[in-house]
Amino acid sequence: MHRFWDSYISKIVGAAAPKRMIEIGAEFGWNTEKLLQWCASHGAFLEVVDPAPHPVLHDVLARYPDRHRFHALKSFDALAVLPPAELVLLDGDHNWHTVYNEFQLMFSSAVRSKVPPPIVVMHDVAWPYARRDMYYDPAGIDPADRHPYALRGIRPDVSELVDDGLNGHFRNATHEGGLRNGVLTAIEDFRAAWPGETRFWRLPFFNGLGIVVPVERVTPALLAVVEGFFTPEALLAACERLERDGMAVRVELAAERQTLTRRSEALSRARSRILELEQEVAELRAARREAAATEAA
Ligand SMILES: C[S@@+](CC[C@H](N)C(=O)[O-])C[C@H]1O[C@@H](n2cnc3c(N)ncnc32)[C@H](O)[C@@H]1O
Repeated sequence: MHRFWDSYISKIVGAAAPKRMIEIGAEFGWNTEKLLQWCASHGAFLEVVDPAPHPVLHDVLARYPDRHRFHALKSFDALAVLPPAELVLLDGDHNWHTVYNEFQLMFSSAVRSKVPPPIVVMHDVAWPYARRDMYYDPAGIDPADRHPYALRGIRPDVSELVDDGLNGHFRNATHEGGLRNGVLTAIEDFRAAWPGETRFWRLPFFNGLGIVVPVERVTPALLAVVEGFFTPEALLAACERLERDGMAVRVELAAERQTLTRRSEALSRARSRILELEQEVAELRAARREAAATEAA
């Protein structure tokens, strides 16, 4: 999600000018640091929610002691007790059950407090988790909403999991699509069920950024910013960035291939040398046996 900061999230935060934000899913704190910098220069405050972040997050948090509160909780437990915020960054557990119920909690809590529901900027509304669940903690998911899952990888346009795909170290749903499967499905279902009106925009790259704005929070400034993401110029700039990103991956791949080729060649030279030495040893042994036989005769 942090890859969206410079061109997108920072602009949304700037236009919305929130006094309180919640970040769900902080991990290394890459996005958190940007948010806290913004809070420090705009007098705002951030609630950071993650039950199991990387330890380096605490180094980030320590740099902004007055600007945050950290909650080592799952989103459901945190959202049940935190007062509503104006803006939420959502990037925790990537599955239908979690995301749908996070929205229920956030929006219902705002209604109870008689404030507009928050603007939600969310990650993973494109491949691979738009239409496929992933579970950090399957035991915490209602079994009625939990799909069969496995620690196997994902390939574009292949519903079944594979051994050599992406994110094979995560518990991925064994099939893609269908009811109650994936993050994009969750927000679509929530918007259809929620009685209030919301606007939704989606940037379908870098795993997808979703922007959900309740109509009560739509302002001309925010609208101008978000609609600015979809102008031909902005989309062309996004294409250029994606192309650079794709090229960087290809260069890395080419370097890996060269290393592999060099290693395979060295391995095959070593194998030939071993065969030669084995041959020499066999010949020496035969000569020794022959010499011993001659001596004995
Ligand atoms: C993809 S990472 C977040 C990356 C981060 N937003 C960024 O842009 O750098 C997901 C994080 O969500 C956390 N997480 C998993 N399940 C969660 C839940 N139920 N509630 C809150 N956070 C959760 C994980 O511990 C992990 O650190």
